[in-house]
Amino acid sequence: MVKKIGVIGFGTMGSGIAQVCVEKGYEVVAVEQQEEFFDRGLAQIKRNWKRAIEKGHLTEEQQTEYNKRLNMTISWEDLNDVDFVIEAVTENMEVKKDIFKKIDQHIAPETVIASNTSGLSITEMASVTSDPGRVLGVHFFNPVPVMKLVELIRGYETREEIFETAKQFVESLGKEAIDVKESPLFAVNRILVPMINEAIIVLQEGIATAEDIDKGMKLGANHPIGPLALADLIGLDTLLFVQDSLYEETQDSKYRAAPLLRKMVRAGHLGRKTGQGFYDYS
Ligand code: NAI
Repeated sequence: MVKKIGVIGFGTMGSGIAQVCVEKGYEVVAVEQQEEFFDRGLAQIKRNWKRAIEKGHLTEEQQTEYNKRLNMTISWEDLNDVDFVIEAVTENMEVKKDIFKKIDQHIAPETVIASNTSGLSITEMASVTSDPGRVLGVHFFNPVPVMKLVELIRGYETREEIFETAKQFVESLGKEAIDVKESPLFAVNRILVPMINEAIIVLQEGIATAEDIDKGMKLGANHPIGPLALADLIGLDTLLFVQDSLYEETQDSKYRAAPLLRKMVRAGHLGRKTGQGFYDYS
């Protein structure tokens, strides 16, 4: 029975995962490197709850209950009685392996270990633990409280019962799971990121304007947002990093990043966060 969840890293994703877990009745132990690092994620959760109260979707009493279930700590020892750990730290294999070793040392033998990585190898992370069979990928989408999908990724040694436990757990959060084999970027981003890259190539070749590309994909392919507007939202630096990693991992030239994307990143035009991307936000 999964009752208590460990969340490692309380950034954009970790805080979103923690929020959804406490809302669904789970107790959460969130681990950060320093107390102050909780501030950003906590502010995000408080904003979401404030809005829910204003809309009448949440009561003050419920919020108090949620808060009681949300425990924040910088001590790894506090993971000793969690049933399921989700790692959501920086997307870097060396950092993640280091974290996986620490998790492995501090949890009970039957505890499941999950990574929220967007595309790094689950098998490689699992290899540094004492029992790689209890490790899998549980890939939430941003923003976690809103997005319905979770990709479940089996590593080379993931045991079937671990996969089933994870599936039941994410469904209990009101999410839908899809079953994905380990591969670069998994399934959704493997399709989405090259699609955005192709949209940038279409722009770069002067085939259509940014506005028309986005209009075309919204009205012609029924996408809720155009690929270039989405690129600005994700951040062009993040997109370039992900596209480059896909190319490196597959060594397939079809995944080469659009030169225009690289040029814009070099110019510091990273999308919404810098006020300038394919569109002007200033
Ligand atoms: P973030 O940078 O917002 O948060 C990472 C957090 O991890 C930071 O608060 C940092 O202090 C903490 N951290 C780093 N090292 C730590 C350690 N040793 N111990 C405890 N905490 C530590 O990153 P974000 O965006 O939340 O991404 C986290 C993971 O989720 C990454 O693997 C990323 O690829 C994945 N992801 C991100 C999505 C996004 O849209 N941001 C979407 C889906 C997955």
